[in-house]
Amino acid sequence: MERTFLMVKPDGVQRNLVGEIVSRFEQKGYTLVGAKMLAVSKELAETHYGEHKERPFFGELVGFITSSPVFAMVWEGENVISEARKMMGATNPQEATPGTIRGDYGIQVSKNVIHGSDSVESAAREIDLFFNEDELVSFKKTNSEWV
Ligand code: PPS
Repeated sequence: MERTFLMVKPDGVQRNLVGEIVSRFEQKGYTLVGAKMLAVSKELAETHYGEHKERPFFGELVGFITSSPVFAMVWEGENVISEARKMMGATNPQEATPGTIRGDYGIQVSKNVIHGSDSVESAAREIDLFFNEDELVSFKKTNSEWV
């Protein structure tokens, strides 16, 4: 069973989209196994986005993600890493299909509402970066055979 790291970014929290976003993944059939509000430190932001440090928007990205609290989550389920990315839509909201989270709620690439891990490796790294093991639960939903 796969796990992925998803994060409602500061714009999504400020715009009261946390409940809507959680609801989409719940209704799809995925299981929330960890979640918390947090203020991302500069150090955590620079580590999390470390692979982008040479890109021109790196400073803006770090500044944005540390500007206001985020809602960090770990979701579990079959193929949840790639399925969550499909549900999020394209990185640039203006290229994201309506019906996706970014397609429905975003306009600017620099404020694109949600982050999601893009691979098994990045999911493991990001979950470990944001959560302690004792902040995650492991359980089977009693209705999981209906999904
Ligand atoms: S992706 O989804 O990782 O392939 O997208 P990528 O284009 O590589 O972008 C990496 C992250 O940088 C954000 N981004 C930007 N922020 C500010 N300004 C500009 N112009 C910009 N372009 C891309 C993008 O949202 C990715 O952040 P996350 O949190 O991973 O979605």
